[in-house]
Amino acid sequence: MSENGVLLKNKMNGSGLKGKALTRNGLHHVQVNGSLYPAKVKSRRQCWEVKPSDMAQNTLNPIRAIVDGMKLNPNPEKPMIALSIGDPTVFGNLPTDKVVLQAMKDAIDSQKFNGYAPSVGYLQSRQAVANFYSSPEAPLDAQDVILTSGCSQAIDLAISVLCNPGDNILVPCPGFSLYKTLAVSMGIEVKLYNLLPEKAWEVDLQHLESLIDENTSCIIVTNPSNPCGSVFTKEHLEKILKVASRHCVPILADEIYSDMVSHRQWTRHKTSVFPGCSSPSMASLSADVPILACGGLAKRWLVPGWRLGWILIHDRNNIFGSEIRQGLVKLSQRILGACTIVQGALESILNNTPPSFYSSTVSFLQSNSEICFNELSAVPGLTPIMPSGAMYIMVGIDMENFPDFKNDVDFTERLVTEQSVFCLPASAFEYPNYFRIVVTVPEEQMVEACGRIREFCLTHYRPRSRDSNDLDQ
Ligand SMILES: Cc1ncc(COP(=O)(O)O)c(C=O)c1O
Repeated sequence: MSENGVLLKNKMNGSGLKGKALTRNGLHHVQVNGSLYPAKVKSRRQCWEVKPSDMAQNTLNPIRAIVDGMKLNPNPEKPMIALSIGDPTVFGNLPTDKVVLQAMKDAIDSQKFNGYAPSVGYLQSRQAVANFYSSPEAPLDAQDVILTSGCSQAIDLAISVLCNPGDNILVPCPGFSLYKTLAVSMGIEVKLYNLLPEKAWEVDLQHLESLIDENTSCIIVTNPSNPCGSVFTKEHLEKILKVASRHCVPILADEIYSDMVSHRQWTRHKTSVFPGCSSPSMASLSADVPILACGGLAKRWLVPGWRLGWILIHDRNNIFGSEIRQGLVKLSQRILGACTIVQGALESILNNTPPSFYSSTVSFLQSNSEICFNELSAVPGLTPIMPSGAMYIMVGIDMENFPDFKNDVDFTERLVTEQSVFCLPASAFEYPNYFRIVVTVPEEQMVEACGRIREFCLTHYRPRSRDSNDLDQ
């Protein structure tokens, strides 16, 4: 039945609109002798002028802004190696586990998951996530879980429920660009707090604290980190929690890379502060700070295209209370987020994926990181920072000694032109003079790429001599 039909039917039932009515096609109607006729509305426009909304115009993805502006013309003599894409499936060397695939096939064959699910997800699937992530320190029930379309929607809902336009959020620098993309489009100010490369990317706690004011509505903590590959110690996480607690600011913990942490101490990294083995969740360490922890299947289960994420609501002192929970439920109703087939497979994925799958993924990432770190450590003008988790390594460029290039964007652009190796300039993470390498590529390609980066640097490295330094002073 047409929209007009619905309106007319309602009228006949006595529940319709009286007098002037607005149908969904936007036309005003008036009632004359029981019938609806278009009202004579004075046209306000003489010609077409359809503009994108302010929200659309204010939605900017810095990675796209930078990469689309680069001239990426690879050297035709060398096959391209893209170390830029944070999608572990692109090279085909890291398939997901067959248990994960079977769970999906079973969910389809059951025909039980073809309809709409509740906006927050099926209760059974939420319970499965709650069971998987529950710990004695941070217990979870199905009611504490909201299923979303990837971790991205989880972050979107978490920011949306905690912040109003005019508020500010504290975001790590360097950090994942989505936080800013979402916040700015909602009129929320982003304040960047510094991570310290010389301390394996720990948070500059003083800087973090200095940014908090009465309009700060949340602190985002990404652990393990994209783009740094760093993993915070328990002690460091506790210090961040203390800052949040002192100022009564909730935390949005982006833990999409949780448990993607190296198994053994990475001893070759001299300044390593990581004991390896584990990355405790923020919630397991929090005595009072309320936390929305965002995660999903994308990275650990190597299926980013399946778009299944979650928010875990940790609120032991009932600070979020029912209002924030209700807010999240309402926001989830805007769009039914997570695909029902994947929700149907979730319980089996979480319960039946063999531990060997997780450990072999992490071993591979760790070994590739070590190769990359060792190779690039020996390259003049580069300072790689050894990661301890996730799937990235950040590399500092000693720009002073590469006079051929203006900045990291220029450097990485020419690396493509000459060597057909593409690394993401860290300006995309608001952190110039670094680039980020994704370590999910097959080992041979990692070795080949490092060799080419070395050749490129040897060609362009021209250290400023001590004499010229002296003359400048
Ligand atoms: C830190 C971080 N958070 C969230 C996401 C988004 O995850 P999803 O693909 O599940 O939306 C990513 C993806 O790269 C990420 O690196």
